[in-house]
Amino acid sequence: MDSIKIFKGYGKVNPIEDPPPTHPKTKPIIAVAISLIVLLTVVIGGTIAALIHESATEPPDEFPSLSSNPTESLRVVCSVTQYPDSCLSSLNNTCTLTRADPERIFNLSLHVAMDELRNLSSLPKTLISKSNDPRSESALNDCADLFGDSLSQLGESAAAMEVGPGEKMLTEEKIGDLKTWISGAMTNLETCVDGLEEMGSTVLDEVKTKLQKSNEYISNSLAILSNIQTVLEKFHLKLH
Ligand SMILES: *[C@@H]1O[C@H](CO)[C@@H](O)[C@H](O)[C@H]1NC(C)=O
Ligand SMILES: *[C@@H]1O[C@H](CO)[C@@H](O)[C@H](O)[C@H]1NC(C)=O
Ligand SMILES: *[C@@H]1O[C@H](CO)[C@@H](O)[C@H](O)[C@H]1NC(C)=O
Repeated sequence: MDSIKIFKGYGKVNPIEDPPPTHPKTKPIIAVAISLIVLLTVVIGGTIAALIHESATEPPDEFPSLSSNPTESLRVVCSVTQYPDSCLSSLNNTCTLTRADPERIFNLSLHVAMDELRNLSSLPKTLISKSNDPRSESALNDCADLFGDSLSQLGESAAAMEVGPGEKMLTEEKIGDLKTWISGAMTNLETCVDGLEEMGSTVLDEVKTKLQKSNEYISNSLAILSNIQTVLEKFHLKLH
């Protein structure tokens, strides 16, 4: 019965199942033959449809051991990002990913972004002291402030992930806050670059290059968070 339903569900019911009215006294043998053909069509068609259906959907246990396979888990999570390569290489830390569920991978992405940006926090001052470009100076001072803001927004996000036993790492409400903070952190980096550009700063390209990784890591983190529901489903998990 199931296979027949599936078959009908595909909308391919053979028109001869519902033969147009012919002569009222159709020969019984033809009627029986038609019924048999219809029945066979339905059964065979249904079986094929069921098989197609089976192979079209994911095998039920495609990710049975995702969490115990960090590299594979990471590949799945990083596939939602705009920079999957940088996502994979920056998060490929099997020590910290022994329990590689999406929430932990997101947490790690946040820390990786913070570490990268923290390394850049002295860049604006270093550039100010090195260059004799007064047009750059005010823009670089702004950059220093903006980087600081970004770091606190990422720090606040990371702090929100640290919860006591039994508490939820992510809730829908928390996701909303985290998205605001992380995208704010990203916007700040853009604002810094825009400021240097407006001033026609000679260090624009250098800053852009040095910010590239930070920008990618923050973007990756935001992408993982924004797609967390989809990612969790792939792990057969739900937001609690
Ligand atoms: C991640 O690390 C594992 C184990 O160290 C290694 O086999 C794999 O090639 C690495 N993958 C990437 C994308 O760096
Ligand atoms: C940050 O700088 C330290 C010291 O120079 C270095 O060891 C570390 O790998 C850097 N981290 C990142 C994420 O670039
Ligand atoms: C988040 O990641 C950091 C850095 O790897 C780690 O120290 C911290 O324990 C992680 N927090 C959670 C809740 O997993």
